[in-house]
Amino acid sequence: MTDVLDLQDVTIRRGTTTILEDLSWRVRDDERWVVLGRNGAGKTTLLQVASGRMHPTSGTATLLGARMGATDVFELRPRIGLASAALADRIPSGETVRDVVLTAAYGVTGRWREAYESVDESRATDLLAAFGVAHLAERWFGTLSEGERKRVQIARSLMSDPELLLLDEPAAGLDLGGREELVSALAELARDRRSPALVLVTHHVEEIPPGFTHLLLLRAGRVFAAGPIGEVLTAENLSGTFDLPLRLDHVDGRWAAHATDRPAG
Ligand SMILES: Nc1ncnc2c1ncn2[C@@H]1O[C@H](COP(=O)(O)OP(=O)(O)OP(=O)(O)O)[C@@H](O)[C@H]1O
Ligand SMILES: [Mg+2]
Repeated sequence: MTDVLDLQDVTIRRGTTTILEDLSWRVRDDERWVVLGRNGAGKTTLLQVASGRMHPTSGTATLLGARMGATDVFELRPRIGLASAALADRIPSGETVRDVVLTAAYGVTGRWREAYESVDESRATDLLAAFGVAHLAERWFGTLSEGERKRVQIARSLMSDPELLLLDEPAAGLDLGGREELVSALAELARDRRSPALVLVTHHVEEIPPGFTHLLLLRAGRVFAAGPIGEVLTAENLSGTFDLPLRLDHVDGRWAAHATDRPAG
């Protein structure tokens, strides 16, 4: 087991705002993490740091063994997959689904004269099939539904065979069936030992796929609690993270939470 991500006392400041504060977090290559926290807690910012897109104001970030600041981040980028709404917005709507996935082999968006190897072509086809969107390969990305886009984006983020995969709210905007399909695709990914280390940012415990092993609770830019999901995901911790008395249920390997009048304990 090796660390794919090692953050030590990471602080991110913008002007007078402290977005992340003294945050330390380690992710090993066989771990599957869920990150939960209120709106504005710093989850997306954390993924920016974890993907090498943002440098800490202070503290150290070591990604795949390479210390940020001392390494060429462009060399690291294809080795860290990231899927987020912000990145989806940058995908040209007139690009075919196949090309959206294929171009990720080169860490770029937009197809431009690269000569794709047939091995890449078949990998793209396999990934689209794994996420149930192979039939959409020739469609323009801009014509897809929200749920179809999410699945294509995850296929895209796996194309470069990353060692770390970061997913920022992949289930946002999906209907119930779409969410359940995504949860089961992520559960399958989590079970596969060949999969990269996974980090899933979500707003809902209902979206935690079975097989995810660890949980980071983020509150106002700080770690509220972190560790194995079975220990950290409690009504008490969740209530503290969201500043709300919550009841937590665990049924058939899935989690559910709702507000309650009784304080957790
Ligand atoms: N450049 C910036 N300057 C000042 N504040 C910023 C900047 N970028 C982000 N923030 C603030 O940092 C906080 C954390 O933002 P971030 O997007 O990481 O939160 P989040 O946990 O992903 O929230 P959400 O659940 O709504 O997606 C927010 O309050 C946001 O307004
Ligand atoms: Mg966010």
